[in-house]
Amino acid sequence: MVGPRRQPSRKGSMADVPHDMLQEIKRLEDMFTVDTTKLKAITDHCISELTKGLSKEGGSIPMNPTWCMGFPTGHETGTFLALDMGGTNLRVCEIRLPEEVGEFDIIQSKYRMPEELKTGTADELWGYIADCLQQFIEYHHEGEKLDQLPLGFTFSYPATQDYIDHGVLQRWTKGFDIEGVEGKDVVPPFQAAVAERGVPIKLTALINDTTGTLIASAYTDPEMRIGCIFGTGCNAAYMEHCGEIPKLEHMHLDPQQEIAINCEWGAFDNEHKVLPRTPYDVIVDKDSPRPGQQAFEKMIAGLYLGELHRLVLVDLHENPNVKIFEGQDISALKKPYSLDASFLSDIENDPYENLQETHDRFESMLKIKCTKPELELIRRLAELIGTRSARLSACGVAAICKKKGYKTAHVGADGSVFNKYPHFKARGAQALKEILDWTTGRDGKPLGRGNDPVEILPAEDGSGVGAALIAALTLKRVQEGNLAGIRDPEAMLRGTKAEKPGTKEVEPNK
Ligand code: GLC
Repeated sequence: MVGPRRQPSRKGSMADVPHDMLQEIKRLEDMFTVDTTKLKAITDHCISELTKGLSKEGGSIPMNPTWCMGFPTGHETGTFLALDMGGTNLRVCEIRLPEEVGEFDIIQSKYRMPEELKTGTADELWGYIADCLQQFIEYHHEGEKLDQLPLGFTFSYPATQDYIDHGVLQRWTKGFDIEGVEGKDVVPPFQAAVAERGVPIKLTALINDTTGTLIASAYTDPEMRIGCIFGTGCNAAYMEHCGEIPKLEHMHLDPQQEIAINCEWGAFDNEHKVLPRTPYDVIVDKDSPRPGQQAFEKMIAGLYLGELHRLVLVDLHENPNVKIFEGQDISALKKPYSLDASFLSDIENDPYENLQETHDRFESMLKIKCTKPELELIRRLAELIGTRSARLSACGVAAICKKKGYKTAHVGADGSVFNKYPHFKARGAQALKEILDWTTGRDGKPLGRGNDPVEILPAEDGSGVGAALIAALTLKRVQEGNLAGIRDPEAMLRGTKAEKPGTKEVEPNK
């Protein structure tokens, strides 16, 4: 290996930082730090907003019932396709769930989601997705005569679902802005594009990435209670009893029946009652394609972390009291969204006491030569933004645990921020401890020695395996005659293997 061994973190010293800059750092610390009292207030407000979302009147957190009813047993079997329309990539997978409990085989192809597609037309979007599916099937099943393959489509945006194969897009999130899709069911245009190309698939379930994460993680871990995504966007799903969902009362479902709720907690506090927003959060919102929406998400999610950092730096350059990057051309930094979350990760990961990597990065990418005090400020700011993100995220997890009365739980998490942002996991765990007042760890062991009572753990692949499992669970329900949220049971099975007796797509519980 060349170069120094990476240290987990540098000590850092503010010794050379001049007084006015120190004052500025202090101001930023005050602005971006969320103390324990505030974390608790946010959590409490979040609990009541989650409940409100389930009420008939509704609230700003959508709390979308997903018609994914209950957890997998581990005994699901069959072959399924999964399509994942993420923010950056489109992924097509074929998943085989074998007899062995909790096992799966997966083959997959990734296609880049062209940036223009995010603000293009609906026809372009569905056409592109259907083309990718077609390519996948042609490549992996050339010349075969196929049954209609059941497909789980992970569409990770807020959608109202009257049925599991239906989803009216409530609004685009994560910077998407494609005209003519909001307020409409996304399934028919998707199916039309697929049918036009003669691709042999049957959409069985439209799912959210969080629901997929919950189900995929529960497949291998019976303690999983919540599925979270901390990535480009931020959201969670959990299982709720139908009896706790007044807005489904008219359906007369068994009150004890469980159904996964896609919270869409990114919309938490759109009314700005409790979140400690800074002037920079206000600008991020104002300049986004959907101002007033996703207040919580815009303070937490990967899409916005770099932008917040950038806005602060530009402000401090223009601020006559601080004047960072004095006399330098900051035009590259002025470009909105020019810094992403991985840029912030790299700053926090810089192992050198003199922040050499950060210095070089600013110089090569932004053509800015930073002084040592400026580098200290840049580093501290990244820590503040990253820490705030992790601590606010913990409020959402704590709120679900408190609402459900979970004293212990596993939470399955996925997404680039959770997986790659330095210290995100530890900072989140620390915040959970503060909010939930833990004095001991799990099983009475001293904190930090055994496991924490609520642990946020890396999840199984929700948009692949999770989508396949939800398709399997749905077909099983249809076969068993449990038809809540199923529009047309016969049509759902028609042409698939599950239709033919003796070749069950899904085995009954063993
Ligand atoms: C956004 C979407 C939500 C998704 C999350 C994570 O919040 O609205 O549906 O789960 O991002 O991808």
